Amino acid sequence: MLKLGILGSGAGSNMQSIVDAIGNGELDAEIKIVLADVPDAKILERAKNHGIPCRYLDCAPWKTKLEGAAEEKCIGILKESGVDTVVLAGFMRIVKPKLLAAFPNRVVNIHPALLPAFPGVHSWTQALDYGCKVAGVTVHFVDAGTDSGPIIVQKAVEVLEDDTPETLHARIQIQEHAAYPEALRIIAAGNYAIEGRRVKIAKS
Ligand code: GAR
Repeated sequence: MLKLGILGSGAGSNMQSIVDAIGNGELDAEIKIVLADVPDAKILERAKNHGIPCRYLDCAPWKTKLEGAAEEKCIGILKESGVDTVVLAGFMRIVKPKLLAAFPNRVVNIHPALLPAFPGVHSWTQALDYGCKVAGVTVHFVDAGTDSGPIIVQKAVEVLEDDTPETLHARIQIQEHAAYPEALRIIAAGNYAIEGRRVKIAKS
């Protein structure tokens, strides 16, 4: 059984999809702790509503990364909570090598684009502005780069002629909510190998 520590900054809909997958018996996992770097983030409220331990993590003075004292504190909380897999679910900060070293090949992220296209923020708007016909979502292991680690699951989403950033993001999120539980099921089953950039998944 996976012991998850979830880090988020926003609405927590991806955390919700993981909670639901566990509840439906589709994912063999337990959420040990939820941490958010925004004190009033909805992800914390959702966690509380499900009786999941959760805390605000003050990441000052940094605005876009998790480093220094906050990183140490985060690692301490995750370890004390018995976490073996760190799930970034809308966590809008770059995680640094110390956290990655504390959970080797066990930090995963969801990104709202078909990586390696459109890393960074507002990826769905980038895809729309570029004129892409297909957008999507990627779940990947986190490495030292930004949105660059080995890919576990990808799902494509068609871009429609009348899409706005909001409508496209909403359809991408529907796929996100299937992709994250699917990727975590692969990790829970353990029938994969990371070979260089590739995650090779054995057929079950
Ligand atoms: C999701 O769309 C996720 O892919 C994105 O933030 C949103 C969080 O939604 N993450 C990133 O852009 C990371 N670079 P949620 O809080 O409802 O799960």
